[in-house]
Amino acid sequence: MNVRYGRFVSFEGGEGAGKSTQVRLLATALREAGIRVTVTREPGGSPGAEDIRGLLVTGEPSRWEPVSEALLLYAARRDHWVRLIEPALKRGHWVISDRFADSTLVYQGVGRGVDRAWLDELHQLVLGDVAPDLTLLLDLPAEIGLARTLTRDQASATDETRFERMTLDFHQSLRRGFTGLAAGDPARIVTLDASGGVDEVAKAVLESIRTKLLKELPG
Ligand code: TMP
Repeated sequence: MNVRYGRFVSFEGGEGAGKSTQVRLLATALREAGIRVTVTREPGGSPGAEDIRGLLVTGEPSRWEPVSEALLLYAARRDHWVRLIEPALKRGHWVISDRFADSTLVYQGVGRGVDRAWLDELHQLVLGDVAPDLTLLLDLPAEIGLARTLTRDQASATDETRFERMTLDFHQSLRRGFTGLAAGDPARIVTLDASGGVDEVAKAVLESIRTKLLKELPG
């Protein structure tokens, strides 16, 4: 982690929190400020990891048992880190990722009951001490997020709905999981209220970037 020039920013949250929109808006703002940016997502981001994504996000909710699911996510994450994120950071790019390892702690750990210590050990074995410099948690009640995804899915006719179709209890536990993680690591994870409009959330995102990473970003 010593020879890194760019910054690594992740967005996290439950379903329908508006992460991908905010990732796009932040990338535009940073590019306008003259920063080189690589935008990516998990699961996915590299060709191999995108193939694994297909296995994870489609099909029946019961398609994978939780530990296998975590292992698939870490196979994808290793490929993504080695082939895309680390080289981009070394070239001086800022990498903005729609989800990273916090999603596994929450979806597979809190939501699906995989042991937290085991997940921490898996992360250490596969990636070592890799973590985002800043994580923006877009926080929203599960019911509101799920309602948003319904509208979005109908519009795009996507079949990437495996997690969305898990129970409301599951999704409510994710919100508690994410806010719990944020409470435990306030230096890295900033919680933003995602129930407002797109522009309002985007303003809060830029404010966090300014405070935490880049004081000279233009207003
Ligand atoms: P997306 O809808 O944000 O693109 O993410 C795809 C799905 O994958 C989403 O429902 C959350 C799930 N997921 C996990 O369960 N664990 C993980 O580690 C990641 C990165 C995503």
